[in-house]
Amino acid sequence: MKILVIHGPNLNMLGSRKPEIYGTKTLAEINSLLQKRADELGVELEIYQSNHEGYLIDFIQKKAKKAAGIIINPGALTHYGLSLRDALEDSSLPVIEVHLSDIQNREEFRKVSVIAPIARKQISGQGWQGYIEALETLAALLSEGKRDRPSQ
Ligand code: DQA
Repeated sequence: MKILVIHGPNLNMLGSRKPEIYGTKTLAEINSLLQKRADELGVELEIYQSNHEGYLIDFIQKKAKKAAGIIINPGALTHYGLSLRDALEDSSLPVIEVHLSDIQNREEFRKVSVIAPIARKQISGQGWQGYIEALETLAALLSEGKRDRPSQ
């Protein structure tokens, strides 16, 4: 069972980017914590970061067929990335949206997510632990689905 983990624009700068808001862990550190939890859960991860919406869409289109679900922090594309939203929806995969910061308690423009309506769940304001929660939620959802599917 493969899960795609997608990080949007500016998340490559984690660690030095506004640590008071996004925390002090680098993206590489978050990815390795995710990988460790994925190993424990027995799921495979494919992790990707880009600062470009089109590259994120290319990745989703290329990888969705062989994946079971998507965890995504869309960065600022959360608030206006309609092509990204379409690509996620077109993938027909369960999507969990993650934000390190609490987007409901920051600037007005961050309160709206164009991704949320097509996501199974939005996790916001939990810092890097939000990614772990997303992984656990998605893994549970996917193994429920497996159990419920008739065997043959
Ligand atoms: C973010 C919140 C977004 O508003 C912001 O543009 C980001 C990061 C978060 O993880 O809290 O880049 O998605």
